[in-house]
Amino acid sequence: MSYIYDAGAPWQKQALQGINLRIEDGEFVGIVGPTGSGKSTLVQHLNGLILPTGGKVLVDDIEVGTDRRRMKELRRKVGLVFQYPEQQLFEETVRADIAFGPGNMELDPDEIDRRVEWACEAVGLESEVLDRSPFELSGGQMRRVAIAGVLAMKCQVLVLDEPTAGLDPRGRAAILNQLKALNRSGMTMIMVSHSIDDLAKLADRIVVMWEGRIGMQGETREVFRHFDQLQKMSLDVPQIAQIMLRLKEAGLPVTTDVLTVDEAAEALAQVFREGQICCAGPA
Ligand SMILES: Nc1ncnc2c1ncn2[C@@H]1O[C@H](COP(=O)(O)OP(=O)(O)OP(=O)(O)O)[C@@H](O)[C@H]1O
Ligand SMILES: [Mg+2]
Repeated sequence: MSYIYDAGAPWQKQALQGINLRIEDGEFVGIVGPTGSGKSTLVQHLNGLILPTGGKVLVDDIEVGTDRRRMKELRRKVGLVFQYPEQQLFEETVRADIAFGPGNMELDPDEIDRRVEWACEAVGLESEVLDRSPFELSGGQMRRVAIAGVLAMKCQVLVLDEPTAGLDPRGRAAILNQLKALNRSGMTMIMVSHSIDDLAKLADRIVVMWEGRIGMQGETREVFRHFDQLQKMSLDVPQIAQIMLRLKEAGLPVTTDVLTVDEAAEALAQVFREGQICCAGPA
């Protein structure tokens, strides 16, 4: 598919071209790429917020945009958390905001209350904020409210555009763990992130966006093997892989094929066990 902003105007902007992407049920897909490469434009197609100007977007058997009656079904299937959460909040209280999505799903009021509580806990929101206006909250709290509102719909597919921007490290880790747990329970996750380190830990597959096209895609470990190609696209490999690369350049016979600190620790332990390093002690 492709997408042109303001098609036909002299200032039209081709934001996506030649995108050919297939995502399976239950996958955790990470989307990376420099600023302006088309990540947000791409993910906004997934629940029909914007419609392709060329080609097709299919979610199961729903062709996004062609059948107006099925848009409601699509929005229940695919939840989207916007890059700028304040664009997503509009109710008078946090409680009403989180309840808005499930409120449109013909659920009984008790179930809606249960979902609001569950979603709040999942994103680490204190119950005191439930009766406040979302617009009085800090940026990090707003983001949590926006995520909670989408979680509460219990969609089959969750699309998150930079979900942890602006959160402190503990809040970030809590939300990422929650997303991983939801994915393990079968929810398909599609996450745009500038944090290569987060994606290295979470994603099964990485899609690299570059100038409106897919620059590279593949299994996470495979994509992060391409240090040079990623660097050309202004991207890094995970920090832990960079450290291993430096150790290797310094002469240690270690693998650089690591995605997490645990994997790196294991690789270093192995080098020590095999006696390939001697610690210089006093003679
Ligand atoms: N509403 C809009 N009108 C016109 N052009 C737009 C609009 N939104 C985005 N663009 C342009 O489309 C291209 C892709 O933008 P997009 O927001 O999808 O990038 P992104 O990869 O999400 O960037 P970031 O990492 O900064 O969020 C950019 O050149 C951008 O300037
Ligand atoms: Mg964006």
